[in-house]
Amino acid sequence: MRYSMKDVNTIYGIFFLYRRKWIYPAEYRIRYSDISKNTLCSIAVKDMLMIRDMKIEDCEAVAEIDRNTFSTPFSAEGYRRELEDPKATTLVAEENGSIIGYANLWNVAGDVTLNNIAVAEGARSKGAGAQLMEEILRRFADCEFITLEVRRSNLRAVEFYKRFGFMQVGLRRNFYEKPTEDALLMTLDLSTRR
Ligand SMILES: CC(C)(COP(=O)(O)OP(=O)(O)OC[C@H]1O[C@@H](n2cnc3c(N)ncnc32)[C@H](O)[C@@H]1OP(=O)(O)O)[C@@H](O)C(=O)NCCC(=O)NCCS
Repeated sequence: MRYSMKDVNTIYGIFFLYRRKWIYPAEYRIRYSDISKNTLCSIAVKDMLMIRDMKIEDCEAVAEIDRNTFSTPFSAEGYRRELEDPKATTLVAEENGSIIGYANLWNVAGDVTLNNIAVAEGARSKGAGAQLMEEILRRFADCEFITLEVRRSNLRAVEFYKRFGFMQVGLRRNFYEKPTEDALLMTLDLSTRR
C-alpha cells in the first residue's frame, strides 16, 4: 500500500498529539505498544482502536457479538434499555468503524458489577479486551470494588481478569445454564490501586 504525503502528515499529527497526551486515551486511542512495534503508517491506518460509550446505533452490533459468544445472549432491545438505566455503563471498542468488543457494567453506590465483557472472535488476543478493561479501571477508579462472575471452565477469561488484579473470592454453584456450570466470583479491590 502506498501513502501520500497527506496521509503521512495526518499520521504524524496523530502521533504527535498522542505523545503529548492531548488525545490520550478514551476518545481517540492508539495502542502505544503498536506504535513502538510497527511502522508509523501501518498503525494509524490499520489499528485505530477507540474505546467509547455505546450509542443507540451500536446496540445491534453489540447484541451480535453476544449472540456469537454466549449461550444466553442479551438482545439489542436489552442493550437499548441499558442506555436508559442510570446505573448502567456500556463501553464499546470500535476499530475502523466496526464494533469489535464491548463491556457492560452496573454501578450501585460505588459497588461495580462487570456484567459482561466480550471481544468478537476474530479480534481477540490483540489487546482490545485489555483496552476496554483499562478504560473501566479509569472510569471507576473512585469506586470500591469491581465484582464479576465467570464460568469455571473459561480459563482464558480468568487469566485475563487475574492480569488486572482480580482475585477469586467465592464460588456460585450451578450459576450458569446452557450448559449448567459453576461461576467463580472474582473481585478487584479498587482502593489498592489508589
Ligand atoms: C476475555 C476477552 C474479553 C479478552 O479480550 P482479548 O481482546 O482477547 O484480550 P487481550 O488481547 O486484551 O489480552 C489481554 C490478556 O488476556 C490474557 N489472554 C488473552 N488471550 C489469552 C489466551 N489465549 N490464553 C490465556 N490468556 C490470554 C493475557 O493475559 C493477555 O495479555 P497478553 O496479550 O499480554 O498476553 C476475550 O477473550 C473474549 O471476548 N472472550 C469470550 C467472552 C468471554 O469469555 N468473556 C468473559 C465473560 S465472564
